[in-house]
Amino acid sequence: MDYDVIIKKTDEEYKAVNELMEKLLAKMEMRSQSQLDAWTSEMKALFSQLLIHVKGFFEIEEQDGFMITVLQEHPTLAPAVETLRQEHQTALSAMERIQQQCCQAESPDCQAIDSLCKQLGEVIQYLKTHVRKENQLVQGALASDIGAQD
Ligand SMILES: [Fe+2]
Repeated sequence: MDYDVIIKKTDEEYKAVNELMEKLLAKMEMRSQSQLDAWTSEMKALFSQLLIHVKGFFEIEEQDGFMITVLQEHPTLAPAVETLRQEHQTALSAMERIQQQCCQAESPDCQAIDSLCKQLGEVIQYLKTHVRKENQLVQGALASDIGAQD
């Protein structure tokens, strides 16, 4: 894939993931003031979108994006890249579990919704921390490139 296309696609997926996470967090805050059936179906729709974009984001990172570049130019960072790749699996598994629970419960009770919201909050936090770690890795690799050029 062309380098500019990779950058553009990564950027688009990152923005979509961020926007959807913020929408879900905002919607969770609105739960008590909302009509529960409508709130639940909006949450489900947003979550399905988030899952699609998280998959797209991870896929481009692993197949064409920064992971490939870092591995080619900084092979000593392979263990750190592998840890981040495993975090993709952990996040996707957690999200697929949430998705399954959403599908099983057509109109979930309060306890089930509490549990789903808790899991969702945790996975969003996990994703944010993951992205921060990736940014640190890339910045560290870039800094060492600049250092090497001096
Ligand atoms: Fe990632």
